[in-house]
Amino acid sequence: MDHYRTIIEPFRIHAVEPIRLTTRAERGAAIEAAGLNLFGLHADDVLIDLLTDSGTGAMSRDQWAAIQHGDESYAGSPSWFAFLEAVTELWPFRHVIPTHQGRAAEKILFSVVGGPGKVIPNNTHFDTTRANVEATGAEAVDLVIAEGRDPSAAHPFKGNVDIAALETLLVARGPDVPVVFVTITNNSGGGQPVSLANLRAVREVCDRFGKPLFLDACRFAENAWFIKIREPGQADRTVPDIVREMASLADGMTMSAKKDGLANIGGWLAMDDDVVASACRNLLILTEGFPTYGGLAGRDLEAIAQGLREVVQDDYLNYRIRSTAYLGEALDAAGVPLVRPFGGHAIYLDARALLPHIPPLQYPGQALAVALYVEGGIRGCEIGTVMFGHHPDGSESPAEMDLVRLAIPRRTYTQSHIDYVIEVVTRVAAGAADLRGLRIAEPRPPSLRHFTATFEPVA
Ligand SMILES: Cc1ncc(COP(=O)(O)O)c(C=O)c1O
Repeated sequence: MDHYRTIIEPFRIHAVEPIRLTTRAERGAAIEAAGLNLFGLHADDVLIDLLTDSGTGAMSRDQWAAIQHGDESYAGSPSWFAFLEAVTELWPFRHVIPTHQGRAAEKILFSVVGGPGKVIPNNTHFDTTRANVEATGAEAVDLVIAEGRDPSAAHPFKGNVDIAALETLLVARGPDVPVVFVTITNNSGGGQPVSLANLRAVREVCDRFGKPLFLDACRFAENAWFIKIREPGQADRTVPDIVREMASLADGMTMSAKKDGLANIGGWLAMDDDVVASACRNLLILTEGFPTYGGLAGRDLEAIAQGLREVVQDDYLNYRIRSTAYLGEALDAAGVPLVRPFGGHAIYLDARALLPHIPPLQYPGQALAVALYVEGGIRGCEIGTVMFGHHPDGSESPAEMDLVRLAIPRRTYTQSHIDYVIEVVTRVAAGAADLRGLRIAEPRPPSLRHFTATFEPVA
């Protein structure tokens, strides 16, 4: 198959879901009613939903079959043991704590290790990670390499941690750092991978300063695939083998199974430390559920267990990463500014470059995302000043970048859907000069404002 250009989906479609065509007038009315916030839309009014790759993928025949094996016993369900076996096959941590999704794992962990005066470094904190760190009174610090902050810089592992900056932070504030985090792949920095060499270097620094290293591992399989195809010396290894090496370098992880668990819900927190795990389990019982199901039904645990076996397969990962790049290559050829190289789960449009006439504090990413919806019913997500420009003290400053993420749900859309997206984005980019900036309408939400804020055009 190597000599054919066409990327075929390594599956046939077994059940279909209708999607509804709308008129431009209908879309204009829908987005007005939603306060120009794409999170406020009725999903039936969206044609191609690229808001997120989280929980929106299609499950396989074997996952639906596994769901039938779901055992809903309150304690010690066989489904828990199926889940535990699948997780520890890849991530052999001593303690696995199931949660209903990734942020629940973050909330529990940071409630235990965070708190006022603490500082938590990461390559780039995802929005929920940052919010959960800050909710405890701790500080979230982003230490991605310089190339990771520059949308056009070429680097095979733009998610890498700036090792010198990490050392400087640990020298200055060592006693305040309870844990070092690395996000694989780096979602907020463009879905960019982290190399094994960088993870080893972070491990070495953590050892020197006596700090635990945790991975935010939502897209671990995509990260492992990038390591396999981009990192010297890794091409002949299997993906599970690479994942196990990543696990061996870490002391724990948070996980959203809605990404590389290939499931619609679920997550976990895992670690080796007995004391922290015990404190986390106590919180789990308060907020999520008994430790053998956490926030999940037995059937969800089964779906994740099967998803973890499928997500590390070469055919799947090759299709996944190539088909995302297909969208990026076509938009790049059409002259649309993008984050390069292409991320694993999404293509990120560089709204700041496309809309230089809209200052960051007038949210060029939000303006572009709204325009894509009105033009073609495509729902993307602003990852920029709306999401990251608001600080706990109420002040506002431009985010590092103003991006619009077109996240690709796993195994959900075909190449013709993506060809349509290419046409719509190209047309909106051609008319970019006519787009106007936005401001946030009152009342302004106190945190995670991108979910609930409403917007109005700047006069
Ligand atoms: C890197 C990263 N960390 C954490 C999360 C939170 O996971 P969840 O949405 O399951 O709460 C996400 C979700 O998008 C993510 O991309």
